[in-house]
Amino acid sequence: MTAIMRCYAGPADLRAMQELTRRVWSPASPQHVGDLAWGRFMYTPEIADWPIALWEDGGRVVAWAWANLPGDLRMEVDPARPELLDAVLAWFDERAGDGVRTVCPLDDQADVRAALTRHGYELQRDGPYFAPHARSLLGLPAPVLPEGYTARPVRGAEDLDRRVAAHRKAWNPSRVTTESYRAVMAAWPYRPGLDWVVEAPDGEFVANCHIWYDDGTRVGLIEPVGTVPSHRRRGLSRAVCLAALHALRDAGGGMAVVSPRGDEAYPAPGRLYRSLGFRPYARTLTYVKEGSP
Ligand SMILES: CC(C)(COP(=O)(O)OP(=O)(O)OC[C@H]1O[C@@H](n2cnc3c(N)ncnc32)[C@H](O)[C@@H]1OP(=O)(O)O)[C@@H](O)C(=O)NCCC(=O)NCCS
Repeated sequence: MTAIMRCYAGPADLRAMQELTRRVWSPASPQHVGDLAWGRFMYTPEIADWPIALWEDGGRVVAWAWANLPGDLRMEVDPARPELLDAVLAWFDERAGDGVRTVCPLDDQADVRAALTRHGYELQRDGPYFAPHARSLLGLPAPVLPEGYTARPVRGAEDLDRRVAAHRKAWNPSRVTTESYRAVMAAWPYRPGLDWVVEAPDGEFVANCHIWYDDGTRVGLIEPVGTVPSHRRRGLSRAVCLAALHALRDAGGGMAVVSPRGDEAYPAPGRLYRSLGFRPYARTLTYVKEGSP
């Protein structure tokens, strides 16, 4: 059957893309439904309204491509439709022009890697990469906080300003704003009960961990996590992640995943997650192409 390509036309399409991502999810997929929601809404549309294309067959999405211009591609192709990899890469060539184009599949994605090589991409041997980690939700330790700090889920809009302030201090400089985070909170599958913060004795939110829960696969994606600099190395991220992981398990989750950097240039997040019992199971590879399509 021939798939029909069309351009993204609004939030209903993001949901249809998430359905593909959920349907084909496995530890060998680089995307979780939460990556799509966070990637689309963490910035306001003026910053993040990048071109997206969908390929549909029989009324359902069988591939999508998202060009984070100028030159990064994220994509998902139904493994049952590998011929669409060529269409996706041709679309990206057209959108990105002849500048540097980068695609980062997981090492296990042999069909994607073969398509990239066919289209003139070269594997970069050095540089930063991400290492997906996973852990089951059995046997979670209890969170332990220093005296005076408390952990709790956000209560919705009333906590929005403090929630965003904590994120911005942890990720300084950050382009996440109150407006963009409001859109995150409205996106599927955001749940306030999985958006945890640590409150300092003076009421400031000083650490946070949000989990995107896919109740189809029962896998939760941790994204994002942060502690404001003046409160680091007190165990706050460890505690807030554990509190959120307990909530994930209570919501029905069976496994959690997270993708910290795997290279030694930015090791702290990986150490944090391994200290929580996560273990790496894959890594991203960086394929680059330059010049005319
Ligand atoms: C990474 C980050 C979340 C850690 O927060 P934190 O509250 O300081 O972390 P914790 O105190 O709970 O530390 C837990 C463990 O993580 C590891 N860790 C945390 N910070 C570390 C650092 N700077 N260097 C090395 N290991 C570190 C350690 O194993 C630590 O255990 P230990 O203190 O017993 O050695 C924080 O530095 C941050 O917000 N960074 C910017 C945002 C970010 O990178 N988020 C994660 C993205 S995946």
